[in-house]
Amino acid sequence: MNCLSPSILSADFNRLGEQITAAEQAGAQYLHFDVMDGHFVPNISFGMPVLQSLRAQTGMMLDVHLMIEDPVRYIGDVADCGADIITVHAEACTDLNLAVDRIKERDLLAGVALCPATPLTELTYILPRIDMVLIMTVNPGLGGQKLIPYTLEKVRDLKEMIDSRGLKTDIEVDGGINFKTLDAALDAGANIIVAGSAVFEGDVEENTKRLLDRMK
Ligand code: DX5
Ligand code: ZN
Repeated sequence: MNCLSPSILSADFNRLGEQITAAEQAGAQYLHFDVMDGHFVPNISFGMPVLQSLRAQTGMMLDVHLMIEDPVRYIGDVADCGADIITVHAEACTDLNLAVDRIKERDLLAGVALCPATPLTELTYILPRIDMVLIMTVNPGLGGQKLIPYTLEKVRDLKEMIDSRGLKTDIEVDGGINFKTLDAALDAGANIIVAGSAVFEGDVEENTKRLLDRMK
């Protein structure tokens, strides 16, 4: 099944609760939560207290994308705050296997993210252990960027790799997904769609419904 994961990075933080409810009522199944540390990516976003208060408000799958160095340090806290999926960047882990162990020990879904230029070979051995691969379709760290076209070739290759090994791993795409690029991402094999500006710029409920409609 295709799922939409609105990224709150583009939300109006003055009206965060209201906008999240609008996305949920319109049918969004996941909620994408971008944590940034000012090291792995230049920006700083938000963290545990915000995650915890969102958990209290929503029944959507909390899809936490850790854009931080050495993320294994924070997996316990993120789990305590109510995450359902925790995704770490392969580039940020000294021991990716250990990070996956820590997520699995908490009975959560484990995702591994790759920056645009990071090859799929990073996943060769870890793939059967994880639930989701997040392919960055822009450089991580900022909403509202333009999708880098070659990243969809990577999605296509990943889909082939997953199918040829008889796996059921989800493929999430993140960055620059909008009404123009959505079809190409789905066609390449993505089934979890992150959308920040495409959901939160304008009418959240209407945007969510329109995107979900196109994903059927
Ligand atoms: C970027 C973040 C994204 C971001 C996507 O580093 O990981 O989740 O919010 O924003 P859009 O959909 O506007 O490109
Ligand atoms: Zn993200």
